[in-house]
Amino acid sequence: MLFKEERFTLKGHEIELRSAKDEDAQILIDGLIEVCGETDFLLAYKDEIDLTIEDEIKFIHGNNKSEGDGLVMAFVDGEYAGNASFNSNGRRRRFAHRGSIGIALKLRFTGLGLGPIMLERILEKMKECGLEQAELDVFATNARAIHVYEKLGFRECGRIPKAAKYDDGTYADEVHMVRSLIS
Ligand SMILES: CC(C)(COP(=O)(O)OP(=O)(O)OC[C@H]1O[C@@H](n2cnc3c(N)ncnc32)[C@H](O)[C@@H]1OP(=O)(O)O)[C@@H](O)C(=O)NCCC(=O)NCCS
Repeated sequence: MLFKEERFTLKGHEIELRSAKDEDAQILIDGLIEVCGETDFLLAYKDEIDLTIEDEIKFIHGNNKSEGDGLVMAFVDGEYAGNASFNSNGRRRRFAHRGSIGIALKLRFTGLGLGPIMLERILEKMKECGLEQAELDVFATNARAIHVYEKLGFRECGRIPKAAKYDDGTYADEVHMVRSLIS
């Protein structure tokens, strides 16, 4: 699904939201490596990101052309800040009404209020696709993200203890959250 390109001002910053283009492939890969190196709250260590430009272009096309997937990139004052995405569980009819969300902003662009705006756009797009339920997984230690998700109407529906194990031997539980897309 393609997102409508939009520009607005947020706390004195020029924001642009739009779908990805082929020429964004390297920016997306570099952004993922950067953000994975900055936070413990994502799925991978930065040294585990081994995407090629070809992989990323395929991923961009998949998101833009699919009826049940989408990715929106955010730029702050012209600089790539992060992205939010959704994927429907569309391969089996019994599960096709559900979709999963992901979001990651570079550390220096967090705290601006951008994440919730991007998530609103994702939720709108999921409704447009006919999805009925949005879901996401978040580490229990990620209090900021959980706060944002709860503000947007997500509720915890379960957790996996010790879902992630860090290189230093510590663990994080994973919280599964859900939000209805039909009123
Ligand atoms: C999580 C994320 C998407 C939130 O987006 P954001 O634009 O930074 O969020 P906001 O600026 O709107 O605000 C954060 C809110 O959390 C609150 N907050 C900040 N730190 C917090 C903490 N430690 N505990 C609880 N609330 C916290 C802020 O007070 C603010 O609340 P308010 O809207 O009620 O005033 C973004 O920070 C991010 O991408 N982080 C890095 C990657 C990540 O964690 N991704 C999610 C993986 S599941």
